[in-house]
Amino acid sequence: MNIPLEYFTLARVIHILAVILWIGGVSMVTTVLIPAIRRMKSKEEQIKTFEKIEGKFAAQAKVTTLLAGLSGFYMLYELDGWARYLDYRYWWIHAMTGVWVLFTLILYVLEPLLLHRVFRKYAEKNPEKTFAIMHRLHWVLLLLSLITTAGAVAGSHGWFWLK
Ligand code: HEM
Repeated sequence: MNIPLEYFTLARVIHILAVILWIGGVSMVTTVLIPAIRRMKSKEEQIKTFEKIEGKFAAQAKVTTLLAGLSGFYMLYELDGWARYLDYRYWWIHAMTGVWVLFTLILYVLEPLLLHRVFRKYAEKNPEKTFAIMHRLHWVLLLLSLITTAGAVAGSHGWFWLK
């Protein structure tokens, strides 16, 4: 590495702060917000609360995913670590990239173009089922993100899990 170590470390600091805010928010929505909304009595209140809070979080997540991606690719560039994509022991690099692509697609493309409309339509028709499906999808995203985070911390510090 020819760059000052501080730049690389700064990128790592930004990466982790962005990941904490982003995945921490996903955890909050999954384990606190959606369960609370599912217990609300009126459909109107459920939809309004969810759209208000998740909408605000989605705006934040757009910034934190961008920062995580920029800092992540910068570190990969400085490490000249592209060949890691060809080595299965670096599954956590694939996982980080995969989770990032998934969230970027959802936040920047699918949600504004499609998901928002689909959510509203089905939540009006059958709120219970719609929130149950959404809750399950949030759990899937949260678990994938946590496995990825655990693998990335272990792998970055030399504990590879796979031989
Ligand atoms: C385009 C997306 C991403 C890229 C290119 C990327 C790249 C990287 C790189 C190159 C490292 C340093 C590896 C090393 O020191 O050997 C790293 C560390 C890390 N990344 Fe990512 N990352 C991305 C997204 C994510 C996501 C989505 C998460 C969490 C869900 C994540 C969590 C972490 C964690 C926890 C570390 C370990 C830091 C440490 O313990 O020092 N990254 N990432």
